[in-house]
Amino acid sequence: MSDKAILEINAQKYEFPLKTGTENEVVVDISNLRSLTGGISTLDSGFKNTGSCESAITFLDGEKGILRYRGYSIEELAEKADFLEVAFLLIFGELPTREQRDKFHTDIKAQSVVDEDLKKILEAFPKSAHPMGVLSSLTSALTAFNPSSVNVNSEEDMYKAIVKIMGKFPVLVAWTHRKKQGLPLDYGDKSLGYVENVLKMMFRQPNEEYVQNKVLVDALDKLLILHADHEQNCSTSTVRIVGSSHAGLFASISAGISALWGPLHGGANQAVLEMLEAIKLDGGDTKKYMAKAKDKDDPFRLMGFGHRVYKNFDPRARIIKKAADEVLDDLGIEDPILDIAKGLEQEALKDSYFVDRKLYPNVDFYSGIIYRGMGIPTDMFTVMFALGRLPGWIAQWREMRLNKEPIGRPRQLYVGATERPFLEIDKR
Ligand code: SDX
Repeated sequence: MSDKAILEINAQKYEFPLKTGTENEVVVDISNLRSLTGGISTLDSGFKNTGSCESAITFLDGEKGILRYRGYSIEELAEKADFLEVAFLLIFGELPTREQRDKFHTDIKAQSVVDEDLKKILEAFPKSAHPMGVLSSLTSALTAFNPSSVNVNSEEDMYKAIVKIMGKFPVLVAWTHRKKQGLPLDYGDKSLGYVENVLKMMFRQPNEEYVQNKVLVDALDKLLILHADHEQNCSTSTVRIVGSSHAGLFASISAGISALWGPLHGGANQAVLEMLEAIKLDGGDTKKYMAKAKDKDDPFRLMGFGHRVYKNFDPRARIIKKAADEVLDDLGIEDPILDIAKGLEQEALKDSYFVDRKLYPNVDFYSGIIYRGMGIPTDMFTVMFALGRLPGWIAQWREMRLNKEPIGRPRQLYVGATERPFLEIDKR
């Protein structure tokens, strides 16, 4: 293959270098397109064809349904690693030794207390507030209580900011949940593992000892691993672009939380459960909802289906679907919603509308069924997605800063009014 691309405009030829990645993906590097062509840009709504960066963190192949974190397959990591190991791998590039893992956890636990004044911010929210809005606000507020974590340039200062948010974020997640449940805000126990501590902080009742359930611990650990990173998705791109202005790690993560909230992105896991509940209430009539999803005049979409990159099964969906059966079985839960989901999947995989558009179940289609089985309220599902995605956001922010990437500032095609004189109000 040639090592350059040629663009011809008005009989003038311009050459651009081709770059090949370690997985043999090829890109056209158009970094100097405007300077070479005297101001011509590209247009690519939704960035469907545009790479924003070079990254060494996560690789996915949408056609083959492959997902790897730093070269390790998601299947192996979900089976053999724990969430803290995967967080270390994503952020620092290698699976940790036992000593590295223990030090990482010790440093995180040393930062697992938040300023008491944060409770005043939380208390100001109505119980009806959506947890993602609360979490985004509290995460942004961390900046106010940890100003030294904003203008970080050295790897040492980045590390300090990283362990701070890895330690404090689970507290904010738990307090966001407890606020809506009317439960007193509580801390966990530094003697526990990372995931065990999350569960205790979320579910401990004030008048009884919290008893760990290994099924829940293992299920959450696996779900957090599966959600940990996904290359340049909407919320990660948000974290990178906000971080590129050097706004600081906590502000960048807060912006990522807001992007993830949308029902087309991480908010889909909540929308899937609401859709399945509606189908159940409607007598389980999946055919009616399939028809709605295919009707161009109906805004309804089959939530949890389709993906910008995967045009095959989302490998995470395969793992989560299997885990859903196992977890509900281990918990002794018969949830008809799972059967409705499986029925919907079977129908869609045979329907030409979905087959022709390569619409398969994505990570959000089955995850909510497990969260529900674990006793997590539906409007907290996307918060759990954010907890899993935190190390991925951190890793991508750190890579962007260490690579000294320029501030993100896309161009546009202006299609508005051309120059015109001001009109006095009485002449309009
Ligand atoms: C996540 O990017 C990531 O990696 C995200 C994520 C991560 O880990 O970070 O994987 C997490 O966000 C998963 C996606 C969760 N969202 C949903 O489940 C919401 C439902 N899905 C869709 O809205 C949609 O599939 C998207 C948003 C996920 C992808 O949208 P695209 O790539 O912009 O595709 P599109 O909207 O252009 O759709 C192409 C065609 C259209 O039909 P035509 O115009 O060609 O006739 O497929 C149709 C769409 O109408 N279509 C659907 C559909 N998804 C796409 N039709 C019905 N139901 C759907 N779910």
